Amino acid sequence: MSEAQHTPLPSALLLMGAGKMGAAMLQGWLKTGLPGKSVTIIDPRPSDHVTALADAHGCAVNPDTATIGPQDVLVIAVKPQMLDAAAGMLRQVASSNTLIISVMAGKTIADMRSRLPQCERFIRAMPNTPAAVGRGITGMAASESVSAVERSVATRLLSGIGKVEWLRGEHEIDMVTAVSGSGPAYVFYLVECLAKAGAAAGLEPDLAMRLARATIEGAGELLHQDAAAASTLRENVTSPGGTTAAALAVLMADDGLAPLMRHAVDAAKRRAAELAG
Ligand SMILES: NC(=O)c1ccc[n+]([C@@H]2O[C@H](COP(=O)([O-])OP(=O)(O)OC[C@H]3O[C@@H](n4cnc5c(N)ncnc54)[C@H](OP(=O)(O)O)[C@@H]3O)[C@@H](O)[C@H]2O)c1
Repeated sequence: MSEAQHTPLPSALLLMGAGKMGAAMLQGWLKTGLPGKSVTIIDPRPSDHVTALADAHGCAVNPDTATIGPQDVLVIAVKPQMLDAAAGMLRQVASSNTLIISVMAGKTIADMRSRLPQCERFIRAMPNTPAAVGRGITGMAASESVSAVERSVATRLLSGIGKVEWLRGEHEIDMVTAVSGSGPAYVFYLVECLAKAGAAAGLEPDLAMRLARATIEGAGELLHQDAAAASTLRENVTSPGGTTAAALAVLMADDGLAPLMRHAVDAAKRRAAELAG
């Protein structure tokens, strides 16, 4: 059991924004033992799923702000453009002891600090969409005043939606965004490309799509279940002079997939930096 799993969970946590990512986190927290009574959810239109979870576990949903006590942890999961609209309420429920965890893309710790001047402890987290099935990965960076215990609390909370990696600093968030934040879309596009190539090779398009989709699902599951390096798994299915080797000679050529992926990741990283201003 990791050190974070022994860290006590917060006794008062407020989730601001219970959309796709907020709901995934909420589900993860409740599954991993956070008592629903310690959770307050703020969202103008909570989904049926969130309402059902909140009802089943006794979470407070949109209570009168005046009745919300001091919070140990605030998790901000609104769209970045909604931060200003949410900041007034956040200021009312946050104190200098509150740990602020934001998953907002493109909003820096400095952006949050300027909206919440009374707060000192900020964590910026970048999860990804497989969080919805508990198989995400989140890169996290903390401001200097965040303690080791608070990092463990954040690790425990974000572990509810998958794996957690601590970064050397906030400057790495844009790189994490470019690799794992945007990465699921690259994999979905790979499915599309493989299916189109199968159809171009003569397969019926629907069959080509079923083959491509199941191949990526299965390969992902193998990666999940087998700790071997990706290169080892690749080599294990590549016989010298065989069909896979013929395809890989194209993909691994100097002008193949590797330089293309470098360009793609670089483009995402530059865009993340632009969006963060
Ligand atoms: N989805 C991902 O894979 C992913 C990955 C990494 C980071 N993120 C970050 O996670 C954040 C949320 O993304 P999402 O995909 O979950 O978006 P989303 O589904 O649109 O969720 C945002 C939620 O916040 C609610 N909201 C709007 N204004 C609010 C306010 N003032 N106070 C409280 N709640 C408010 C929205 O309600 P309405 O819909 O009624 O406006 C919505 O339910 C974003 O900042 C995004 O950058 C998401």
